[in-house]
Amino acid sequence: MFQIDLTGKMVLITGASSGIGSGIAKMFAKAGADISGCGLEKEDGGFIKEAEGQGVKALYTVCDVTKKTDLQNLIQNTINTFGRIDILVSNAGQNVFEGAEKCDDENWQRNIELNLASHWQLAKLCKPHLEQNAGVIIIMTSNHAFSTIPGCFPYNVSKTALTGLVRSLAIEWGPRIRTVGLAPGFIDTPGNQQWFNSFADPEKERQRTIDLHPVKKIGTPEETGAWCVFLASDYAAFASGTTYLLDGGRNALMQDS
Ligand SMILES: NC(=O)c1ccc[n+]([C@@H]2O[C@H](COP(=O)([O-])OP(=O)(O)OC[C@H]3O[C@@H](n4cnc5c(N)ncnc54)[C@H](O)[C@@H]3O)[C@@H](O)[C@H]2O)c1
Repeated sequence: MFQIDLTGKMVLITGASSGIGSGIAKMFAKAGADISGCGLEKEDGGFIKEAEGQGVKALYTVCDVTKKTDLQNLIQNTINTFGRIDILVSNAGQNVFEGAEKCDDENWQRNIELNLASHWQLAKLCKPHLEQNAGVIIIMTSNHAFSTIPGCFPYNVSKTALTGLVRSLAIEWGPRIRTVGLAPGFIDTPGNQQWFNSFADPEKERQRTIDLHPVKKIGTPEETGAWCVFLASDYAAFASGTTYLLDGGRNALMQDS
């Protein structure tokens, strides 16, 4: 039977308290990895209970990834508790959607700090720990790194830039550390449900979105988490320096009809 067993591994996941991050934590727990998760919220969002149910250890730290002192505290808490970091899933991020002309300096800066610089800062802090264990870095970018729609600036710019960060880390920090990017398309998260709810008929809008996808579904946080588990495993030992698009075929379909 084909199985991925990450027993004895320790994964640090940012943005583990909601959406895709909770799905990632759930799937790593199923694979037997211990988990250190962080987020902005006071509460962990349920991943600790989920992890303990799978018999693994889990820790939650409140952390703003755009603040260096918070990142240092996150690493310290993680090392104090687990003594090691094998895998980093740098997932925390947020839509900053504006028009290229309307976007002001404040939103540009906020976006660059959260959706680009924080990933680099955290990777640097994790590097010495990952090097000890032949580690893996997974950076969460987006299908907006491959194609976008009007009004999704400057998010698409930073998510595209992350594919460059993935390349640089892979070539400069390999072979000891493998770095890959994951670019999900439309995932069924609380934020996207909120977006559906902003329409007069949320179910109709959900169906319209589903129909944009050749697979006739939208993705789930668990499916995204399963990709992270695979990319972190030895089965993916040949994967580095590239960003994988996980979008249900949407990018393959011209959207002009
Ligand atoms: N939901 C989607 O369809 C989708 C698609 C492509 C890419 N993504 C990317 O996936 C990642 C997760 O998105 P999501 O939809 O699950 O979002 P979400 O809003 O459900 O969760 C975001 C998580 O990130 C954390 N976070 C946000 N800002 C933070 C900060 N400054 N410091 C620390 N933690 C912070 C939150 O606390 C939360 O745990 C993001 O990088 C997002 O760009 C999402």
